[in-house]
Amino acid sequence: MSHASEVRLAVVAGARPNFMKAAPVLRALKAYPRFSPRLVHTGQHYDEQMSGAFFAELDLPKPDVFLGVGSGSQAEQTGRVMVEFERHLGESPADLVVVIGDVNSTLGCSVVAAKAGVPVAHVEAGLRSFDRSMPEEINRIVTDSLSQILFTTSTDADEHLLAEGHPPDSIHFVGNTMIDTLERHRADTADRAPLAALGVPDGDYLLVTLHRPANVDDPQNVRSILDALASAPLPVVFPMHPRTRKVADRAGIKIVASSIVVIPPAGYLDFLRLQRHARLVLTDSGGIQEETTVLGVPCLTFRDNTERPVTITSGTNRLIGTDPGRILAEIQTTLAAATPTTQVPPLWDGHAAERLAAVLDRIC
Ligand code: UD1
Repeated sequence: MSHASEVRLAVVAGARPNFMKAAPVLRALKAYPRFSPRLVHTGQHYDEQMSGAFFAELDLPKPDVFLGVGSGSQAEQTGRVMVEFERHLGESPADLVVVIGDVNSTLGCSVVAAKAGVPVAHVEAGLRSFDRSMPEEINRIVTDSLSQILFTTSTDADEHLLAEGHPPDSIHFVGNTMIDTLERHRADTADRAPLAALGVPDGDYLLVTLHRPANVDDPQNVRSILDALASAPLPVVFPMHPRTRKVADRAGIKIVASSIVVIPPAGYLDFLRLQRHARLVLTDSGGIQEETTVLGVPCLTFRDNTERPVTITSGTNRLIGTDPGRILAEIQTTLAAATPTTQVPPLWDGHAAERLAAVLDRIC
């Protein structure tokens, strides 16, 4: 790419985990007068709880464009992202499309940009679970293969990209933009009290999230995980994801255990506060494996693999699958053990987006 006097960047965000990564990227890009970044919200997530709340809390600017794609099957959703983003790019050309993470919006927009001849930069490139039954793994592989600029969060990602034949000078290890947001807002959680009305002792609960299709699309799985959690020795705080809520409602799953406190999806600051004060976090989210590593809170992951191995090798994460007997045993063992030591991975220091913008300033 040539060194242009103005660079028009379309930064794409569509689903909840994109928003905390997009905020620092937009902020860092705006520090360069040459860059004209615009925020394209695909509308993959659209509820106030899954989207709007994050814009206010993270100082994200109002999206310049809202594509309104909404929910659907994998193909319906990705297809709508592609149709709407193609239309948008046709009306408002861009010199670079910046996509983030591994959601369907990431995939759809990178395919459209590549076919329109617009270079793609992928934030959080190179992560691999090597499990192609996860929609996110397909999204990662396709997005990386179409991206000219690959921003990585950890050195294992660099290795995967090199092994797949990406030129070394296309790979830029800048660190973790989600941790930029965590560091920026850490202190803002002090006056948050998400448990105040719930009768759960602050600092003495388990925090649970659950939303992967492989874990929740079969109601029987949801039932057996909830049964294991109902026997846990501490109260369980469970902000329920809309996907999981839908499955539970359809299957008539009732949570009868009074020790499981179901709440709506939490906003960013409340959830950060809930993580910081939990004795233990149980999750199948990718981002939460990373956040607990930085916070030094023990994390048990309801999966058999992770695309974020650094959270195990350096951090507090352990993979436990979803067998109910194992879940309960792991909870007991973890609560009885000393808090695991954590080493914050290299470049998860709050400045990843600044490094990313400096790379773009050099090469665009
Ligand atoms: C998506 C991402 C996943 C990410 C997760 C975070 C893909 C393939 N998956 O999964 O990687 O970890 O977001 O939340 O992109 N719904 C609402 N309101 C909303 C959004 C969704 O009620 O604002 C409901 C709908 O019923 C929808 C379901 O949640 O069908 C699932 O949403 P969807 O965007 O398809 O995927 P997620 O499970 O959220």
